Amino acid sequence: MDKERKLIIAGNWKMNKTVAEAIALVQGLKRELAAVKDVDVVVCPAFTALSEVSKELLSSNIRLGAQNMSENGYGAFTGEIAAGMLRDLSVRYVILGHSERRQFQKETDALIAAKAKAAHAASLIPIVCVGETLAEREGGITEKVVETQVSGSLAGLTQEQVVETVLAYEPVWAIGTGKTATSAQAQEVHAFIRKLLATMFDEATAKRVRIQYGGSVKAANAREILSQPDVDGALVGGASLEERGFVEIIKNSL
Ligand code: PGA
Repeated sequence: MDKERKLIIAGNWKMNKTVAEAIALVQGLKRELAAVKDVDVVVCPAFTALSEVSKELLSSNIRLGAQNMSENGYGAFTGEIAAGMLRDLSVRYVILGHSERRQFQKETDALIAAKAKAAHAASLIPIVCVGETLAEREGGITEKVVETQVSGSLAGLTQEQVVETVLAYEPVWAIGTGKTATSAQAQEVHAFIRKLLATMFDEATAKRVRIQYGGSVKAANAREILSQPDVDGALVGGASLEERGFVEIIKNSL
């Protein structure tokens, strides 16, 4: 696929897989995707599997991501993981503000912005998630919600940092439901986000930021969604848990 920005396809494994299962999956992905150069491929296992998966990914074209991190540095924060600890395991990306964390851990835009800053300070690339609920879409406030989330979650980032940030538009009603946004719905919101980035930063910066789509992406719908001009990749949940499903999504994007 000929795209303006390099595609980035990330698997968000969520709270799934033992270490052994994670290793088995990543070994299969390495075998199947060894020749892929035109797409950035990322896997985001649970914290408990990061260390072993990191070893598997040495000298691989697949990059490692985490699913969350603390906004604080090292110190007395029981149960938290610092950005430096992720760097220590050669983690390159970190998902921030996933809708499940916004919903269940009550993460706010301000907290996500603090985490994004801490990620950049440790040279990690944040994947910042935004997206409206079904009620918000039906209430006609999708753009207002997404605008608040994007401006709040990127608050305080420099232009250089935002270029090194990935955004993920994930309509909450499409996550894990089997309901995907139509490619037109996705493109509409992606274009809106890019316009917003141009007003927050400038046109050239907005053109460089990669915006992933997420929400029930699978092999059967990946090509259509990824062919949209402002869709620069996918954040894949359920379909990334199984080798064939994830490999096919990536192959369908080439
Ligand atoms: P899904 O999840 O692909 O299972 O809908 C996507 C996500 O939550 O990132």
